[in-house]
Amino acid sequence: MKQGFKPDVIGNEGWFYSEKVKDHFFNPRNIFKSKAEAKKYKADGIGTIGSPICGDVMKLWIKVDKKTDRIKECKFQTFGCASAIASTSMLTVMATEKGGMKLDKALKLTPKDIMERLGGLPERKVHCSVLGDKALREAINDYFRKTRQFERISGEGTKIIDKALKITNKDIEEAVLEGAKTFEEIQKMTKIGIQDKNCIPETKRLIKYYREKHFGKN
Ligand code: FES
Repeated sequence: MKQGFKPDVIGNEGWFYSEKVKDHFFNPRNIFKSKAEAKKYKADGIGTIGSPICGDVMKLWIKVDKKTDRIKECKFQTFGCASAIASTSMLTVMATEKGGMKLDKALKLTPKDIMERLGGLPERKVHCSVLGDKALREAINDYFRKTRQFERISGEGTKIIDKALKITNKDIEEAVLEGAKTFEEIQKMTKIGIQDKNCIPETKRLIKYYREKHFGKN
């Protein structure tokens, strides 16, 4: 085993990739190899997400078995890096294996679940794995919209935390995914709390929450 790689951790501190990550990068499952292939695909739902951190884009298509409410097929294309390709490839496998995942369960899939199956990702690359699960949620919501199941559409709300600079919980989440671990680090990146000091306790609570959500630790 290479020094620095710990398969039992979610986002490891090193730069080493697990054998599974390498396998899914070199042989991605369910990826469209051409624009033409994607164009003629008849999807029930499509989700597109861009990363505010690196600017990369992920597009994901699903087919749904309407009787069982399970994902029958899940395909993707991305401009993202090796980590984005490997983690989304694994995500498509998880969504479609064993007869397909129920939509309600698929909406709750997290980057942590994907990384567990991959044997971890370097901590600085965790934000790449978020693209796939966000795009999957968009695709499922798109399917709900198209089939007029509006009451099932889900999404995490955006809340303004720093009232002076209009910094939201999503900005804090992105900063954590970028690698910030402490309030001081987030303040350096976003200037949060410099004018609106009242937001400091809530920001600290959110840093803890997002560290736990994406890395399984504080
Ligand atoms: S997806 Fe942009 S760096 Fe990985």
